[in-house]
Amino acid sequence: MDASGKTMITIIGSGRVGSSTAMRIAEMGLDDVLLLDIVEGLARGEALDISQSCVFDVNVSGSEDFGDMRGSDIVINAAGLARKPGMDRLGLMSRNKEITSSVAGKIKRFAPGSIVIQVANPMDVMSLVQLRETGFEREKVIGMGGVLDSQRFSYFISRRFSVPPSKVEALVIGEHGDSMVPLVSHAKVDGRPLSEIADQGDIGRLIDMTRKAGAEVIELKGSTFYAPARAIALMAEAVARDKKAVLPASVYLQGEYGVSGICAGVPARIGRDGLEGIVEIDITDEEKRAFSSSCDLLRRKAGELGLL
Ligand code: 2OP
Repeated sequence: MDASGKTMITIIGSGRVGSSTAMRIAEMGLDDVLLLDIVEGLARGEALDISQSCVFDVNVSGSEDFGDMRGSDIVINAAGLARKPGMDRLGLMSRNKEITSSVAGKIKRFAPGSIVIQVANPMDVMSLVQLRETGFEREKVIGMGGVLDSQRFSYFISRRFSVPPSKVEALVIGEHGDSMVPLVSHAKVDGRPLSEIADQGDIGRLIDMTRKAGAEVIELKGSTFYAPARAIALMAEAVARDKKAVLPASVYLQGEYGVSGICAGVPARIGRDGLEGIVEIDITDEEKRAFSSSCDLLRRKAGELGLL
């Protein structure tokens, strides 16, 4: 935080996700943004383009020098390989582990007081890599996936029932991946439980579309970035503005929801200190089983990387 009380957000990785996030944060007037990338000129070019798009109250800059992130309050890690059509997120695991470990070393060195928002996939396993490699306490590493999956679940419900997404409540927990758990028991349309207005066939289709949403966009245009950028910006806002908002985030579990020793998506209170509490909501037995098997998968994957 600088003398005026303004915070600074660093985004590592200035590809489409990183740069779209910078644009959103700038438009929200949230905080000064530093874009970083090892590709010569990319971060500086994106920063100039964003800065020239209109007049913002915040400063957007770019650099190849990771030392410039000194003093950051929030570091968003969007650096890593992205999925190609037909690939699942877990297919990126070993290569993105190397990238995430290297980024984590730089965060530890230059921004030891920051809250880290992990984005690169497979996000839940990479959040655990961030924790291990930075040595940060669990409150300081939060993964973005559940907000995005919940946005997508809302979108599909809103289309099915011809209501604006603002009239829909939807929450997705578990892996940010194929085993994600859209919580039907917490989904509402205009205040009415989804389970009362949709039949099992409808609900199954909505869940399936939510699980495949990212892959569908990648198949069509090669990558996803606008929807992830909005989700990342919401999480950054919760930290920067100390909103204490309850958002689904991938965090290190220590017995909550009956799970320990891995990062997985659960409803989390997010504020200035990062993870300020895990909210244990009531879910059905079927949802508990689905969450538990999603976590088993994440545990196996973390084991394969030697993280347990
Ligand atoms: C997404 O779901 C790629 O994980 C990213 O859009």
